[in-house]
Amino acid sequence: MRLPARALRPFMTLRSVVRFRRRQRGRVERRLSRTASVADLRRLAQRRLPGGVFDYIDGGAEDELTLVANTAAFAAVSFEPRVLQGLGAVDIGSILLGAPLAYPLVLAPTGFTRIAHPDGELAVARAAARAGLPYTLSTLSTRSIEEVRAASSGRLWFQVYAWRDRGLVHEMVERAAGAGYEALVLTVDTPVFGRRERDVRRGFSLPPTIGPSTLVDGLLHPSWTTGFLTSEPIRFANVIGRAVGDGGTPVTLSDYINEQFDSALSWADVAWLRSIWPGPILIKGVQTVQDALVAADEGVDGIILSNHGGRQLDGAPAIFPLVAPIAEALGGRSTIICDGGVRRGSDIVKAVAAGADAVMAGRAYLYGLGAGGEAGVSRVLDWFGEDVRRTLSLIGASAVRDLNPSFLSIRPDSEPTT
Ligand code: FNR
Repeated sequence: MRLPARALRPFMTLRSVVRFRRRQRGRVERRLSRTASVADLRRLAQRRLPGGVFDYIDGGAEDELTLVANTAAFAAVSFEPRVLQGLGAVDIGSILLGAPLAYPLVLAPTGFTRIAHPDGELAVARAAARAGLPYTLSTLSTRSIEEVRAASSGRLWFQVYAWRDRGLVHEMVERAAGAGYEALVLTVDTPVFGRRERDVRRGFSLPPTIGPSTLVDGLLHPSWTTGFLTSEPIRFANVIGRAVGDGGTPVTLSDYINEQFDSALSWADVAWLRSIWPGPILIKGVQTVQDALVAADEGVDGIILSNHGGRQLDGAPAIFPLVAPIAEALGGRSTIICDGGVRRGSDIVKAVAAGADAVMAGRAYLYGLGAGGEAGVSRVLDWFGEDVRRTLSLIGASAVRDLNPSFLSIRPDSEPTT
């Protein structure tokens, strides 16, 4: 019996619209395939990581006002898009410290990265190299200067904290030079450790200790716990076996930093660093026009406007509103990078339009790492590149080098808002 065409119509319509997603092959790919933004990866990381670990990454100092202000400042600025510019393809590439990068992003230094995933810094360095972006290894990394170099053929920078033991700093700087690291990043916003109250409440130590509450947390996050227990112990890999302590026995980061780092750091130390390091030096943690000018007078190659992602001084200014006045004050005398609150490629475009040469991002890639290891980091870096390209097209800018404050609803003479 032939059914009338009318009766078949629903099936034909259904057939034309039903599409099953191709099943992703690996477990990680399947998990990541449902994410579309850094916010999604953050939620996924929150589900996969024990509470203390997630809070260590996600949290900020005290009331987290500065942490929130960083992202809010990006959200508060809008574009002034130009249309009918006859652009076609746009160019997202850029030059930083004289060398090309895929788009204006550098991966920020983050200590204790293996806590998010056993592959830690090696995964991040590999993903950065694949994306054509520089990666900054933290002094407090859980893979050594040499291990990271061996894993990556990309551009590497090394971040320095001022240990009281300057012999140790000297030795690390020489190791970084020997391993072909390109630039030194001296972090100056940490004379003492910020009070991160989420960590205080949880009694969080590095590496995390297993007690009654963490045991339950660990059991509730079996894949993280299996990875943690079956990979080699997490240590401060650059100082293994040294008198300063390598994290082999659990310490709170605040005790460690307050004991080991020099709170009396000054511009004289920057001059000393200059005498032992032949390459570019960037100062990370500048937060005022005055200090930006001093840094340029002292002849540093670049400044990184940063409040440590809101993890140090709560009440420090949000970073984005500092970019335009500092860029104007410096008038091209120094490379300007900024970080804090970057969660999308459009934030990168905003910062560069305001006057930055590039931005750094920390949590964005850590959420990716926690959610899906190296593939999660790559996902973030791919999205950021696509975001930059799409945003340039949508605002009518043909290239990163053509960005300027006229694409934003703020002007260089506007006051910092916080
Ligand atoms: C950091 N940051 C940091 N900075 C630094 O100079 N040395 C370090 O070891 C660390 N460690 C670290 C750990 C974690 C878990 C985070 C989230 C951050 C600060 C980092 O380099 C950068 O300034 C911020 O992450 C920027 O803010 P966003 O991108 O996280 O919002």
